[in-house]
Amino acid sequence: MDLDFGGRVIVVTGGASGIGASCARFFAARGGRVVVADKNEAAARQIAGEIDGIAAALDVTQEAEAEALMARLEDEVGPIAVLVNSAGVLQRTAPPGALTMKEWDLVARIDLRGTYVCCAAAGVRMAKRRGGAIVNIASVSGMRSGPLHSYGPAKAGVISLTECLAAEWGPAGVRVNTVSPGFTRTPALDKGVDLGVLDRTDMTAGSALGRLVEPEEIAAAVGFLASDLASAITGVNIAVDAGYLVATPWQAYGGLRPSPETAT
Ligand SMILES: NC(=O)c1ccc[n+]([C@@H]2O[C@H](COP(=O)([O-])OP(=O)(O)OC[C@H]3O[C@@H](n4cnc5c(N)ncnc54)[C@H](O)[C@@H]3O)[C@@H](O)[C@H]2O)c1
Repeated sequence: MDLDFGGRVIVVTGGASGIGASCARFFAARGGRVVVADKNEAAARQIAGEIDGIAAALDVTQEAEAEALMARLEDEVGPIAVLVNSAGVLQRTAPPGALTMKEWDLVARIDLRGTYVCCAAAGVRMAKRRGGAIVNIASVSGMRSGPLHSYGPAKAGVISLTECLAAEWGPAGVRVNTVSPGFTRTPALDKGVDLGVLDRTDMTAGSALGRLVEPEEIAAAVGFLASDLASAITGVNIAVDAGYLVATPWQAYGGLRPSPETAT
């Protein structure tokens, strides 16, 4: 059974690129009226044009902007049924001392505070109407340690925030869930490779399925959690990581091995 979002208003922050753009395409292909909300207005217009959606300028660090956008959309387009928070930035790997507080603050401000700002602006409206679904994009970096001393804690914060808001708004019929991507083929990942922060071979070898995740695979999990098929699911965090989390502890035992069942 495929999903149907016919007529529902779906707001995707960070919808102009990567995972957010894939989510926008996923919902639009299933009948949703998608709002591509992004700091990069030109790119938002391009994606919205492709999917017959609505482009909106939004900097998630500006709470007045988020509040004004949600109010305007509800007046002019209709009640927001789904919010996907995909706006985010990656972080330069650096040890404490080398990572400036300016960098630390910026990542936390966009990835954690920005997610809360948008949840609050849309979620309060959903709760008043007694229905809606929010899906926040965190990361496997929020579930294990790494050399990302702002990004990791910010994403762990998103997972915790999801649980807090799921309990807060559950009685009002609003569901809040998280998807935590592993290494996913997006412009942000390509930039990380170009900067030497990420190594393509290590990323693929470190996952049980031996590959990166496609942004469409993240969108499928987001779409499921936002849909009526997930009507009893709230407060969870689903890792969509090609088996990265389950594979990494095997390094202590010499790494993954070829499956004996497929050896010829
Ligand atoms: N790509 C990966 O491997 C990966 C892994 C785990 C988690 N994630 C998370 O997925 C989300 C999307 O990442 P992506 O890889 O698609 O990145 P991306 O760079 O392709 O897209 C991110 C989008 O967010 C927008 N954005 C950045 N700051 C913003 C702000 N202040 N206000 C509004 N929009 C803003 C950008 O303009 C861009 O369009 C992020 O939250 C990221 O942390 C990505």
